[in-house]
Amino acid sequence: MRMVAPSMLAANFLDLRADLEMINSSQADWLHLDVMDGVFVPNISFGFPVLDQVATICTKPLDVHLMIVEPQKFIPQVKALGALTMNVHYEACLHLNKVVHDIQQAGLKAGVTLNPHTPVSLLEEIIPDVDLVLLMSVNPGFGGQSFIENTYSKVAELKEMILRRNSKALIQVDGGVTDKNAAALYAAGVDVLVAGSYVFRSTDPHEAILRLKK
Ligand code: DX5
Ligand code: ZN
Repeated sequence: MRMVAPSMLAANFLDLRADLEMINSSQADWLHLDVMDGVFVPNISFGFPVLDQVATICTKPLDVHLMIVEPQKFIPQVKALGALTMNVHYEACLHLNKVVHDIQQAGLKAGVTLNPHTPVSLLEEIIPDVDLVLLMSVNPGFGGQSFIENTYSKVAELKEMILRRNSKALIQVDGGVTDKNAAALYAAGVDVLVAGSYVFRSTDPHEAILRLKK
């Protein structure tokens, strides 16, 4: 699969409606939403009062990436959004198996996210149960950072694990994605590319989204 999920973190918040209408009329597959709490990551972004309003006009499936501690507390809010996915960080969940099942029980696709330093091998026991694995290709908290090159080997290792364990999990990569690395990432086995700056800072965002898919 070759999907693109533009990240709203890089949108123009003073004219968010225009950026969301651009996404609605684009070839984007999902809208990626980065929630940060200033504890799990050294930044704060936006929360549910903003997402609730975004959900009323966005026609693309919502891909929610929670960079927060105790993400399980927010399953009801993510469900109320009508989101497609709920991505929680491996590093933020002591009882990941329960969190994944509770997310799925709520009717959401359960995503597990790994920070750049967290080895893929830690997913060995959970991989048959998850719907999505999000590999961070930058340290989470900020848009506009440079892609970390060891992501390619993590994608390859994850792909091998998914096939070997007969998992349905999709592979998603987030951070520093551009037209320079998109093709190689899909070739390595990525299904969904998240791109913030590359899409929203482009002079032609529709074209930027298409370039990522080519
Ligand atoms: C970073 C977020 C990303 C971010 C990506 O913590 O998880 O989704 O928006 O931004 P770019 O594509 O600019 O690296
Ligand atoms: Zn993200």
